[in-house]
Amino acid sequence: MQENYDRGYQLIKAELFRHLKVSQDAYKDSYLIRRIKARMRKLGITSYEEYYRLIKRNRQELDELLLTVAINVTEFFRDPIVWKTFQKKVLPELVDFKKKHYQRSIKIWSAACSTGQEPYSIAMSLYEVLGDNLSGFRVSILATDIDREALAVAMRGEYPKDTVEQQVPRHMIPKYFIPVGERYKVSPKLKRLIKFQYFNLLGSKYPTGFDIIFIRNVLIYMKKEAQEEIFHKLYHSLEDHGYLILGKTETILGKSAKLFKLYDLVARIYKKNLGVK
Ligand SMILES: C[S@@+](CC[C@H](N)C(=O)[O-])C[C@H]1O[C@@H](n2cnc3c(N)ncnc32)[C@H](O)[C@@H]1O
Repeated sequence: MQENYDRGYQLIKAELFRHLKVSQDAYKDSYLIRRIKARMRKLGITSYEEYYRLIKRNRQELDELLLTVAINVTEFFRDPIVWKTFQKKVLPELVDFKKKHYQRSIKIWSAACSTGQEPYSIAMSLYEVLGDNLSGFRVSILATDIDREALAVAMRGEYPKDTVEQQVPRHMIPKYFIPVGERYKVSPKLKRLIKFQYFNLLGSKYPTGFDIIFIRNVLIYMKKEAQEEIFHKLYHSLEDHGYLILGKTETILGKSAKLFKLYDLVARIYKKNLGVK
């Protein structure tokens, strides 16, 4: 792409990554260009250099750009087939494993949780499958993201009524949501399972010990090398019997492909390949 070589674009990119505190090379140029151009269009700016000068003198615009790059589109039960496989296949199998090994806790990580719909969908699924007492399991869901504003929305746990009604199966709404005016608030029984935290996937110290990791619709924005590094770290974060759940159009590329084996192609679920330990 021609813009790659534009001096103004390079300056914006450097400034962006100085603030994101991540490697300059992690995100694809095509993705960054789309995001930067979206901001420029909105402001009626046509040259990268002019936009660069703007973000240098206007902290607010820089923050806007940072948020645009960490774009956080999400939904409750995004890609229903994945949630069906999660509820009907993964969770029952995990419960069998846990019982067989006398383990009483379940630890799940939603590794780019955006505004919270994914971890809340996980929590609802657990209650649906395990019942109100979670079959006696101690359940913890760690939900992380790099975008602090998205995390604040997630922690608040309030969503417009129509979004919830379009995305959450009808019979589940009264069980897990409380109406407040034009919005629904998630019930305390969901909230108490989830811990929200800032975490940069391009950072180094990953949490460990997970039975299931959801890392959906975030790697797609990153270059192959950054993805490989992340898969390598996720391998160590996941327990040997664990499940890795990617986005519906994502796949494991390059050297990291050998770290995991496919468990369910349609739902993009993988298990660890223990042979490469
Ligand atoms: C498209 S959303 C995906 C949300 C959810 N997983 C889903 O599939 O619906 C992508 C999220 O990744 C987050 N993100 C982008 N770069 C990140 C990074 N380096 N570390 C952690 N999160 C990041 C963004 O802030 C955004 O909330």
